[in-house]
Amino acid sequence: MDMNARRDQWLLAIAGAADAAALAELDTRLFGSKGEVLDLVRTVTTLPKEERPVFGKAANAVKQEVEAALAARREQFAQRAMQKDLDTSDFDPTEPGPKRPRGALHPITIVQNELVDLFTSLGFQWQDGPEVESEYFNFDALNIPSDHPARESQDTFWLAEHAGLGKNLLRTHTSPVQVRTLQRALRAGFNPPLKVIVPGRCFRSETVDKSHEHTFYQMEGLVVDRVHGEHGISTANLIHTMKTCLRVILERDVQVRLRPGFFPFVEPGFELDVNCPFCKGQGCSVCKQSGWIEVLPCGMVHPNVLRQGGLDPEEYTGFAFGMGLQRVVMLRYGIDDIRQFMGGDLRFLAQFPEVSR
Ligand code: PHE
Repeated sequence: MDMNARRDQWLLAIAGAADAAALAELDTRLFGSKGEVLDLVRTVTTLPKEERPVFGKAANAVKQEVEAALAARREQFAQRAMQKDLDTSDFDPTEPGPKRPRGALHPITIVQNELVDLFTSLGFQWQDGPEVESEYFNFDALNIPSDHPARESQDTFWLAEHAGLGKNLLRTHTSPVQVRTLQRALRAGFNPPLKVIVPGRCFRSETVDKSHEHTFYQMEGLVVDRVHGEHGISTANLIHTMKTCLRVILERDVQVRLRPGFFPFVEPGFELDVNCPFCKGQGCSVCKQSGWIEVLPCGMVHPNVLRQGGLDPEEYTGFAFGMGLQRVVMLRYGIDDIRQFMGGDLRFLAQFPEVSR
């Protein structure tokens, strides 16, 4: 039979295949090891040499055409099968996908971010320090020698001693970064004023209750400048900075007052209070009827600390503060139990806006 007539037959058979199974059978009949189409191509070897090129070319063209027709018909059956699946299943491609719950920022992170934004806009730089700290930076450099009673008030997690490494601990406050920063600044060629904030995690071996956590966040602030004429950094600078900061964080105009507070690394040292946001200073259970709430300890950097940092206290003065971040967050959102922060209860955590202001 003539090659074209055979081709037409094959194409007709493909078009007439009733289903995918019939098509598969046809595939074997045409392209299997004894397949008709391959047979046709193979006849080329039986022909005289001069006829081979023309015949071979034509036979290959037929082979390709039949292959393409098979593939197209196979695709048609596949489409039909899929459509049938769609028609008979209750799968609804227009239905919205499952809602994945999105995470939110932890309230401490939200407030920390705001504070960092605020202080960097005032020219402060962010400093980091290690959570595993040496006894020297955590205590000695801060004018707290080993026999000093102030050590007792900071129940310390001491770490096992390793030969040659000295005594290490989990830092009990962010203040060790004060002397670290001064020493680093000196190595880099001190260029006052120095203004840094140090947000970070601290640890104390506390019995956990409504207002005490063994793990908590502080943000240290340190400002040091040269004494110009008679004036250096003064308590007035400290008060102004703290007022600005609290006004932004508590979103209201605030009044502050200073009471004497004792910390060996500041002189004078203060406890800074803010007027109670809950009763507007009238007296309520939160402020224990005083109208004031204690927010942060602070003071003027002690001369011994400046010395440890390599600075002459006759030439430089500064202030420092140590803000307890949980405390500020509690005031801001009216939270009354510090254990909520580390409790991992999603119902608590989901209440805070995803993105800070
Ligand atoms: N580091 C002190 C504490 O955690 C707080 C503090 C910082 C006090 C800076 C004065 C100045 O208790």
